[in-house]
Amino acid sequence: MRIVSGIQPTGQLHLGNYLGAIRNWVRMQDELPDGAECLFFLADMHAISMPHDPAALRAGTLELAAALVACGIDPARSILFNQAQVPQHAELQWLLNGTARMGWLSRMTQFKDKSGKNREGASVALFTYPVLQAADVLLYQATHVPVGEDQKQHLELARDIAQKFNNDFATEDQPVFTLPDPIIPPAAARIMSLRDGTAKMSKSDPSDLSRINLTDSADEIMKKVKKAKTDPEPLPGEPAGLAGRPEALNLLTIHAALTDQTVDQVLAEHAGQGFGAFKPKLGELLVEVLAPITVRFTQLLDDRTALAQVLADGAARARELAKPTLEQAYSALGMVR
Ligand code: TYM
Repeated sequence: MRIVSGIQPTGQLHLGNYLGAIRNWVRMQDELPDGAECLFFLADMHAISMPHDPAALRAGTLELAAALVACGIDPARSILFNQAQVPQHAELQWLLNGTARMGWLSRMTQFKDKSGKNREGASVALFTYPVLQAADVLLYQATHVPVGEDQKQHLELARDIAQKFNNDFATEDQPVFTLPDPIIPPAAARIMSLRDGTAKMSKSDPSDLSRINLTDSADEIMKKVKKAKTDPEPLPGEPAGLAGRPEALNLLTIHAALTDQTVDQVLAEHAGQGFGAFKPKLGELLVEVLAPITVRFTQLLDDRTALAQVLADGAARARELAKPTLEQAYSALGMVR
């Protein structure tokens, strides 16, 4: 069993990242069977696919490393690193570019969303981004990839690339790549914006009120929850009563994820209440879960040299693990080394 996942060091870590992905990373790390491994990385190579500020990327990389450790990723048990220190990711991407098809990449919804109307002006990196993502997991023979719902399509593409490569260049009894399984949480796969229940909570939303950042103070969290868009109806007794009420559903989903319940269970407890009563309880729950993370995050950021060392050590381990698969891929393609 090999668990691999990544996150971009652009902007602040938010509640969607935490409930959709990172909390699962920590749980998988904590329940890891003997002989299995977790690799978690900062996708700094992906971060240049959109216009970016180098100083912000540099600072954001160490901050994200601190945030992940604060959330419970333990560098002694999990291999924590940034892609840029493991050049094998980029090497394998190039090899996989020969297998990925233009048509496959053209169908990626993230490319369509992020390039918008200006497709001619989008970077080539934004187009080939999913091939690098495939390389990220195939390089380590990942078996499980814990992600939020929005990354499902990229993971399916990684499987397609692996399968075609194996078909074209390997034998059935000795495939080069393992087909990875996405692990998507049942409850919090898609946390939505607090301002618009139909848009996902995202680092790139210009309104900070749209998201809960992992470093928000208790006051900020309470204020954001209070200002979260809702409707005047009270909470129904059953999920069917949430139809057409995406903002209400989102707040209930967040509550359910934080308390490890289903939305049905949360509704059973709060049926008939208005948001005036529900929101302060949700705010307090959030503060309870996030406050200890914020404290650890601030402490860790005091020693940036130690954080850089964590990434360097993790990268050294990742480079070793990456070597055999990369050599097999070169060899399968007929390249002389
Ligand atoms: P990124 O940095 O956008 O997000 C990191 C993780 O957080 C999840 N996530 C969410 N989950 C629920 N609700 C939300 N609103 C929400 N927003 C984000 C994402 O699904 C993701 O799991 N391309 C990836 C990074 C990446 C990667 C990889 C992931 C690069 N290579 C290889 C897995 C395997 C990305 O930009 O995630």
